[in-house]
Amino acid sequence: MFKLDRFVADCVAALAERESQKAVREVVARAVSDPAAVLAELGEPRRAEVRRLHQAGDLTILNLVWGPEMTLMPHDHRMWSVIGIYTGREDNIFWRRVPEAADGRIEAAGAKALGPREVWPLGRDVIHSVTNPIPRLTGAIHVYGGDFFATPRSEWDPESLSERAYDVDKLLRLFERSNASLPAANQTE
Ligand SMILES: [Fe+2]
Repeated sequence: MFKLDRFVADCVAALAERESQKAVREVVARAVSDPAAVLAELGEPRRAEVRRLHQAGDLTILNLVWGPEMTLMPHDHRMWSVIGIYTGREDNIFWRRVPEAADGRIEAAGAKALGPREVWPLGRDVIHSVTNPIPRLTGAIHVYGGDFFATPRSEWDPESLSERAYDVDKLLRLFERSNASLPAANQTE
């Protein structure tokens, strides 16, 4: 049965293991193997949001709720991460840098569509963009092997695919903008 306190403690313990990302992946896989239990503990998603479940220098755990048909531009993390889906769908496009491109330009390199109970590990240098392809909210647990909010990183302009500094406030605004299109009744607790 998924309990938030226990889940956070298990992730912290996994971090201390030699293969920490692999250990965290197992913890996340166990959690999302029972989506109903995650929904019961975290609540049915009602609005797009980035909810901090744990934030420390070496570990960030987020409950990420993607708005209907919401897309997040390509970005990197500069730390490993693990994604686990408990409701909806999260389509990831993976990108790679074009060698020697002056503007840090990227090109598409692969994709992975993730649904409930699925877990996907991302290496520290991975660049991805994310789309929720369905007309309802998607809920995911994202675990990062560092401080997600304090680490400088890059994002890429979705039209020109050129590199620029990541803006975490803009990220949070994107989630709020997505909520503007949600029916108000959806957002009452
Ligand atoms: Fe990401």
